[in-house]
Amino acid sequence: MNAQKLIDTVRTLVADAKGLLAMDESNPTCNKRFAKLGIPQTVEARRAYRELIVTTPGLGESISGAILYDETIRQQKKDGAPFIKVIEDAGIVPGIKVDVGAKDLAGHPGEKITEGLDGLRDRLAEYSQMGARFAKWRAVITIGDGIPSRACIEANAHALARYAALCQEAGLAPIVEPEVLMDGDHPLDRCSEVTEEVLRMVFNQLYTQRVKLEGMILKPNMVLPGLTCPKQETVDDVADATVRCLLRTVPAAVPGVAFLSGGQSAELASARLNAMNVRFKSRLPWALAFSFSRAIQQPALEIWYGKEANVVAAQQALYHRARCNQAARRGEYSAAMERTQPHAS
Ligand code: 13P
Repeated sequence: MNAQKLIDTVRTLVADAKGLLAMDESNPTCNKRFAKLGIPQTVEARRAYRELIVTTPGLGESISGAILYDETIRQQKKDGAPFIKVIEDAGIVPGIKVDVGAKDLAGHPGEKITEGLDGLRDRLAEYSQMGARFAKWRAVITIGDGIPSRACIEANAHALARYAALCQEAGLAPIVEPEVLMDGDHPLDRCSEVTEEVLRMVFNQLYTQRVKLEGMILKPNMVLPGLTCPKQETVDDVADATVRCLLRTVPAAVPGVAFLSGGQSAELASARLNAMNVRFKSRLPWALAFSFSRAIQQPALEIWYGKEANVVAAQQALYHRARCNQAARRGEYSAAMERTQPHAS
């Protein structure tokens, strides 16, 4: 393992208040988002949308790394330029999602286990050869009546650690993503309790599998009340609960924590990240960054609507959200920034 290479990749990913753009939606997930807007669910529509993203002018000012999907990493712009080269030319580090999705966990109704370890060593070698420098694996933990079970947390943490060890062996920096879902009516305290238990187990397994903490990034959920919980805490309360949970569980050797957005609105995700950095940044051992998909892409997707004529306006919206989140990393985001958000005519 070339530890220095991993450390350099991770350092680049969290430098200059930049963050990651997750554009690694699987085909079914991408199609679902397209279907909601009446966009055709075809290979060409997905390619055109990803071309819009990677050719956004100035994206590299605030985005350090882009997470691709297997289909996307093999695609090209209309003029034939491979996406991976376009990304590199924009000063953005290419990464790749390598799990193959969350499947039902046997014997545990309502719970999921992420699959994709079989053959992973060979797939990582191929992606590395294609130019990917980091990877992502997402585990999903659901809060509900009597769940998550210990079995679900343990199995997912084990898989995350096996994946991370294989990535480091292949010279790819692993993004370790245990996502506690925000679906449900549970209160913030319950999310806090579950997230803490999950992160403890994840770091326990990472330690057991000899994963080098300096050469990885943690991608957790923020600690939030359930989407349908009647009590929705303030931005500052969410920031406090999230940082408290991370301080209890994430070793100081980890260079960066890059949050997923998980279905929060784009503005709330920026505001909450901003509050964490305003209130705690000078006291934290790790960078608090972002690795959003929906909270960066959704406004742009809604403007694009599958129409060529809307590409420029959609790119402006994407650029704007990326800049808002960079400002949030610096603790300089404000609602006033949203008033400059461009809209399609
Ligand atoms: P969201 O920001 O939309 O939660 O997506 C992040 C991600 O990469 C999910 O795996």
